[in-house]
Amino acid sequence: MFKKSLVAVVAATLALTACGGGSDAGGGAGGGSDDGITMGFAQVGAESGWRTANTKSVQDSAKEAGVELKFSDAQQKQENQIKAIRSYIQQQVDVIAFSPVVESGWDTVLKEAKDADIPVILTDRSVDSSDTSLYKTFLGSDFVEEGKKAGDWLVEDSASTDGPINIVELQGTTGAAPAIDRKEGFEAAIAADPDLKIVQSQTGDFTRSGGKQVMEAFLKNTPDIDVVYAHNDDMGLGAIEAIEAAGKVPGKDIKIITVDAVKDGMTALSEGKINYIVECNPLLGDQLMDLAEKVVAGEEVPARVVTEESAFTPEQAKEVLASREY
Ligand code: AHR
Repeated sequence: MFKKSLVAVVAATLALTACGGGSDAGGGAGGGSDDGITMGFAQVGAESGWRTANTKSVQDSAKEAGVELKFSDAQQKQENQIKAIRSYIQQQVDVIAFSPVVESGWDTVLKEAKDADIPVILTDRSVDSSDTSLYKTFLGSDFVEEGKKAGDWLVEDSASTDGPINIVELQGTTGAAPAIDRKEGFEAAIAADPDLKIVQSQTGDFTRSGGKQVMEAFLKNTPDIDVVYAHNDDMGLGAIEAIEAAGKVPGKDIKIITVDAVKDGMTALSEGKINYIVECNPLLGDQLMDLAEKVVAGEEVPARVVTEESAFTPEQAKEVLASREY
């Protein structure tokens, strides 16, 4: 019942070559299911614990809602996501959802979806396009606010310390919305205290191995590191390995602040190896299916749906760890 009219020929020619790492997106002439919604979901990759939890949430919620899900994993490459989206257009899915690996460079493919009359929902990460008619809604966190919470905690925590505090920053994927926004929010917050200085800042690509490698280099070339600010738990966990290997005590000799609050991060927080975690909720599946049903039915949806999130100290982590869903 949600069948689309035939779509641009250009999309059809590109489609069947598609989809690095995808599980279903390149799979031939699909088309919307006759008795329900078909969603094409172009995931970023499997770079972190957060991403794994997000994928599971989307897959579980689709099943529960009776949505036929065509899922692809772009292995953190924008070109793979673009191929997947073109494949979904060619397959005439009812709705496309995706979490853009980076912010820019989406207008052309989003215009192809619009021309094919297929609504697009942005989940988790946004795009920097000025044409907001290219997507129906954006469901996800306020990443600037997350960075701000991390910075506010540090300002308060270091209020009684005299002298400079050297911070090293492990950035997420270059060009990704959470990397840009978490940096911006953090910098704005720590501007309140001139003693707080970011002395090194590099990408660890949101992975544990990336965080470890960059932290090893920081430890070699930067004297007197007081604080690590990692844009996600996985990079923070990689940094812990590097700090321990260098004979220092994470959480004491070097304080660590991260974002996400996935199980492994919360475990390290409860052990005192991380000092503060700002939550970023990956459980977006139910809200996504709800929005998808509405946009496919032609109903109005809010242009922005912000996820509710909190933040945790080691004491709070101990209290909630057992009941965490991810
Ligand atoms: O876009 C959300 C971010 O992407 C998460 O914080 C990070 O862990 C993931 O890779």
